[in-house]
Amino acid sequence: MTSPTDSGVRSLPWLIQGGMGIAISNWTLARAVSKAGQLGVVSGTGIETVFVRRLQDDGVDAELQAVLDAFPLPTVVTDVLAKFNPSRRGGPDLPYRVVPMSTHRNVQSSQDLLVLASYVEVALAKAGHGGVVGINLLTKVQIPTVPTLFGAMLAGVDYVLMGAGIPVHIPGILDQLARGEVVETALIMEGAAEKEQVPNLRFDPRRFLTERSLKRPDFLAIVSSHVLAGAMMKRSSGQVNGLVVEAPIAGGHNAPPRGAMSVDDEGNPIYGERDQVDFSVLRDLGVPFWVAGGITMPERVREAMALGATGVQVGTLFAYCHESGLESSLKGSVLVAVQSESVHVKTSTSASSTGYPFKVASIEGTLSEADVYGERARICDLGYLREAYLKDDGSVGYRCPSEPVEIFLKKGGALEDTVDRVCLCNALMATAGYGQIRSKGERELPIVTSGDCTNELAILLRGRRDYHATDVIEFLKTGLVASSGPSSEHAGSSAEVDA
Ligand SMILES: Cc1cc2nc3c(=O)[nH]c(=O)nc-3n(C[C@H](O)[C@H](O)[C@H](O)COP(=O)(O)O)c2cc1C
Repeated sequence: MTSPTDSGVRSLPWLIQGGMGIAISNWTLARAVSKAGQLGVVSGTGIETVFVRRLQDDGVDAELQAVLDAFPLPTVVTDVLAKFNPSRRGGPDLPYRVVPMSTHRNVQSSQDLLVLASYVEVALAKAGHGGVVGINLLTKVQIPTVPTLFGAMLAGVDYVLMGAGIPVHIPGILDQLARGEVVETALIMEGAAEKEQVPNLRFDPRRFLTERSLKRPDFLAIVSSHVLAGAMMKRSSGQVNGLVVEAPIAGGHNAPPRGAMSVDDEGNPIYGERDQVDFSVLRDLGVPFWVAGGITMPERVREAMALGATGVQVGTLFAYCHESGLESSLKGSVLVAVQSESVHVKTSTSASSTGYPFKVASIEGTLSEADVYGERARICDLGYLREAYLKDDGSVGYRCPSEPVEIFLKKGGALEDTVDRVCLCNALMATAGYGQIRSKGERELPIVTSGDCTNELAILLRGRRDYHATDVIEFLKTGLVASSGPSSEHAGSSAEVDA
């Protein structure tokens, strides 16, 4: 079992189903993985928009009602349900009602919605079994983080996993939230010198608390190198309970190459020797670690175990399984294409406003196609990847290189930063089936992110057009044979527990 034992010691899963935003790692997927004894992870990115769009599509069923009934502040539930229900929207072909973009102003209703949405996602993932559940967030996205973490903790989340930035401040925040303390964090802003006053993000958990303390989830930092892993362990504000070491072949965002960026003929970043992970350094850090990126067959699990890993984190293989949140026609297109090994994945250095490389699969009708991209009118109305900046008058502004170019330039942004930028917020919402409807009934179009090894999914598929999360687990599990490498102790313990 992977649940806490009487002594408080928890055995570790050999498999982490990676957090995949937006809403690809939904509660259905996480529940299926947790139920099977491994670590199921929900994505917390954009969770309040996902929640209110689901409400507007589907209303409230009995399972959701039970979770809502258990939320400690019923007035929050009542207010949210009154605003976001199918009748207020007026019909499935009309635009979704939107939530205001978050700012540093610490608006109570925005924080309440975040807490509720994250609570619901984790509570649904945890319902009906005794397995462990984690939540994944991107460090780059700052403002929603603390209320989202708190909502997850209210629902008893077991793990928090964060990368896409260096989350050194998060472990201490988890300690504070577990003690029911007010959390204040400085908003990191472009162009602000250290001595300059920056606004504090403030979250007060006390209005939700019926008990004095909450369980502190384990914190796993997602890193790309042993150097970052070392920095994380040294500089962290609280306990780091483990590391996920992710190679740049993984789906989603990747770390940029160390040093100056150079690209190949197709524009993919070139990684070199400095990007190689030194696993002996990792082993010496004394915390469990999981290997991520390209784990598409049992041999890769075996290799990871031989390096001393406790296990692996897997994204791409889970992204297309029956339970994932990927919109079903897109899922079908990818599953057909992998049979002929024809999914082409590019590492784009321009698509993401974060500035990090981002994997884009070439799928017809998505924003990976130049003409589809070219036809979209720019609009920024979700704003998760906006950066805060200091205006000339000293006040705080927000901008995103994917917003309308003239607006971005007016805010002091650079023209070159806008080239080929994709509005990942709207596109990834569409990928999960929650694309906004614009004028004349047109929907926002999706983008599919996937690992470099996507075509290797064919090995697991064996000609099928549908498979389940448990198929991924069963398939990879055969790589868990005892290894003679430095990992035998870890591999033995985790394999013996859950295999
Ligand atoms: C569709 C998709 C979305 C992803 N989104 C996130 C995310 O929001 N946060 C994150 O930390 N990692 C994200 N990842 C990375 C996965 O959590 C995982 O580490 C990675 O997929 C492992 O490599 P693989 O894709 O080769 O299996 C994403 C991956 C995929 C395929």
